[in-house]
Amino acid sequence: MTLQRKGGKSLGVLILAAGQGTRMESALPKVLHGVGGKPMIFYTLRLANALKPAAIGIVVGHEADQVKAVVGELAKECGITRPIQFIVQKEMLGSGNAVLESVPFLRKFKTAVVFCGDTPLLTYESIYGLTMSHEEQKGQATLLTAKLANPKGYGRIVRSPMGEVLRIVEDSVATSKELAINEVNSGAYCFEVEPLLLGLKEIAPKGPKREQFLTDIMERVRSKGGKINAYLSGNPEEILGVNSRVQLAASERVINRRMLERLMLSGVTVCDPASTHIDADVEVGQDTVVQPFTVLRGKTKIGKQCRIGPFCYLENAQIGNECEVRLSHLVGCRVLEKCAIGPFSNIRPDSVLGPRAKIGNFSEIKNSRVGFGSKVPHLSYIGDSEIMEDVNVGAGTITCNYDGKTKHKTVIGAKAFIGSNVNLVAPVKVGRGARIGAGSTITEDVPDGVLAIARARQVNKT
Ligand code: UD1
Ligand code: MG
Repeated sequence: MTLQRKGGKSLGVLILAAGQGTRMESALPKVLHGVGGKPMIFYTLRLANALKPAAIGIVVGHEADQVKAVVGELAKECGITRPIQFIVQKEMLGSGNAVLESVPFLRKFKTAVVFCGDTPLLTYESIYGLTMSHEEQKGQATLLTAKLANPKGYGRIVRSPMGEVLRIVEDSVATSKELAINEVNSGAYCFEVEPLLLGLKEIAPKGPKREQFLTDIMERVRSKGGKINAYLSGNPEEILGVNSRVQLAASERVINRRMLERLMLSGVTVCDPASTHIDADVEVGQDTVVQPFTVLRGKTKIGKQCRIGPFCYLENAQIGNECEVRLSHLVGCRVLEKCAIGPFSNIRPDSVLGPRAKIGNFSEIKNSRVGFGSKVPHLSYIGDSEIMEDVNVGAGTITCNYDGKTKHKTVIGAKAFIGSNVNLVAPVKVGRGARIGAGSTITEDVPDGVLAIARARQVNKT
């Protein structure tokens, strides 16, 4: 980027994330609230990194240690190697005060991009456009603005009759004439650091909380002969600031829509985007069809030509090619190719199914391996088990894996046939090709190829 070579000093990015987020009415710091399956600050952190700055500064304050720990994790996850410096704001005295506390960080740079940790929808295109516009117009500050049909809550951009940006007036203190202005401040700015530092010292505390508004910097810079420019975003929805849970839901909707559009454009059919929720890290292969009322969370990865849904919840699940999953709940498991799951299956963590396995209605699988072509079609609980290939598990079969203290393992050999309503009391092994009579309670190992029956004989009395 051209910004980095100018004047020998490079670009710094500062993210403001110290606020409590009072309007969220939450014990969790605002920037850690989830959007698209990620803490909100993930998006601004990723954006900051994409600008390739010399360093990223993050102002923390409210629950600083918690925010720092999450940012550290996210930085690792995104592979961010450039330096991240935390700046601790001692008292949350406004966005202006947050930047004032960051002076030792900012003074290392010629130019600084500043944005808020509560604007997760900002795109690289806009922020890069902001920095380019800043370069070209050669002002002291450039604001990213947008025109909104409903500007309520945002700082309004006050311009002169000639169109020059004069100042930003906050919603809470604006006159009715100013409130009618529909061009708003996104909270993202590009500054020449020198005039920023000079002006910061002069921002007067305001209101009952004696807060310093960063937005007041514009007048301070202008008073010293500086020029403020605005870069109008072509996509107003992306400047949405999350101050309340209502805005959190609105940002979730946009992130989800972006994700679904990305998937659709890569060859995934999403039958009903309005009832489909897919987290930012999910991968879905070509020609897979996602049916309505489906939620794909975390690091779920789905292969090609699958049919997922309707009514499925998958979290950190890996699904191979050509699988069918209907009305089911799958978490932390691997389903290999050409499996059929559901309706009403519950596949729990550490299970590996298939290829070509079939898990049917009201069957629960936990920490188990179900081999090639094996079937657990109806009403079963399979826990801590290893089921080899071509096994048929009859309706109502239960692995009794827990003795009240410890979990025990069940092993079922290839081509075994387990009759309906069988209890397999673990630890127990059923041999290859063995058969078990319906209604048996198996407490001892069954050798290969035998028929085991463990139930009382029927007596017909008159
Ligand atoms: C801010 C802008 C407003 C803009 C809007 C866009 C100010 C004064 N107003 O309003 O013009 O339209 O964003 O979304 O900046 N923060 C700190 N320390 C503090 C206070 C806040 O780091 O002491 C951080 C917050 O964590 C947040 C950001 O600054 O990320 C903005 O604060 P917030 O309270 O959300 O300001 P808004 O009312 O949204
Ligand atoms: Mg805000």
